[in-house]
Amino acid sequence: MTFRSIALAAVGLSVLAGPAMAQNYPTRPVTMVVPFAAGGPTDTVARLIAQSMSQTLGQQVVVENVGGAGGTLGAGRVAKAEPDGYTVLLHHIGQATSATLYRKLPYKTLEDFQTVGLVTDVPMTIVARKDFPAKDMKELVEYVKANKDKVTLANAGVGSASHLCGMLFQDAIKTQLTTVPYKGTGPAMNDLVGSQVDLMCDQTTNTTGQIKGNAIKAYAVTTKDRLASLGDLPTVAEAGLAGMTVGVWHGVYAPKGTPAPVVEKLSGALQTALADQTVIARFAELGTTPEPKERATPAAHDQHLRAEIARWKPIIEAAGTFAD
Ligand code: MLT
Repeated sequence: MTFRSIALAAVGLSVLAGPAMAQNYPTRPVTMVVPFAAGGPTDTVARLIAQSMSQTLGQQVVVENVGGAGGTLGAGRVAKAEPDGYTVLLHHIGQATSATLYRKLPYKTLEDFQTVGLVTDVPMTIVARKDFPAKDMKELVEYVKANKDKVTLANAGVGSASHLCGMLFQDAIKTQLTTVPYKGTGPAMNDLVGSQVDLMCDQTTNTTGQIKGNAIKAYAVTTKDRLASLGDLPTVAEAGLAGMTVGVWHGVYAPKGTPAPVVEKLSGALQTALADQTVIARFAELGTTPEPKERATPAAHDQHLRAEIARWKPIIEAAGTFAD
């Protein structure tokens, strides 16, 4: 056989393998990488949709937590994975902000991933340890300014949503605080409840239960309107921090090169999960709602990611916060 005929045969096989592989996909469990520690908000979203996607796909979607470097370690793992549909990433707004925050990323954000679909846009809450000496945002800002050298602010590393919100908060009150990074706001929440750290800006998917259980204090929510799930908690605008209206959107990614029929199957299973009553009800308890079906598509997610990179780039550059 000539080299040409071997090459043609290989191409023929790969073309055949594509539709045939996609037709039977998945034939084994799918790994969903969460780039933060277990027990945090991203993990919560992942496990909810993974459960439903497992039923639709007929194979287990297994969540694997790969924390570190503000989510970029876990994202890097998926960027380098086989593009066969058996490794996907659930990430959030950090996928967009890290493109500017990090001068050296272990991947190219717009070239190494295939978008699958948007999942949900989660509000954030400004919270403190339960014995923090401030009854409202006005007192909190006064106390923080007067004690800026000793107040600590937890986050999940540069590139995390809690880091972004913390950056906006410090910018809004024109005061830099000591930040304490964790591999996720799951472990950070343990320290906040234990009064080992003073403040955090974290997603309602992680703070709602602790707020309702009076294990931490809440001062504002970062949505335009108040949340039914958090009663009379004021918005950041009502609390005098209008520039802090921000949501943490989440999306599912596959490695670039994943066959289109496989991506379509993953997006279809995601859309089914977002219409699942169990998912909808749990999201509502945690202060969020699923993205509409038309946004849980590869194209809508890709468009949103590009727009968000462009949106946050000047804001991050003006704040001057970067990671090496
Ligand atoms: C987490 O799941 O730990 C959070 O999403 C981290 C963050 O982005 O703040």
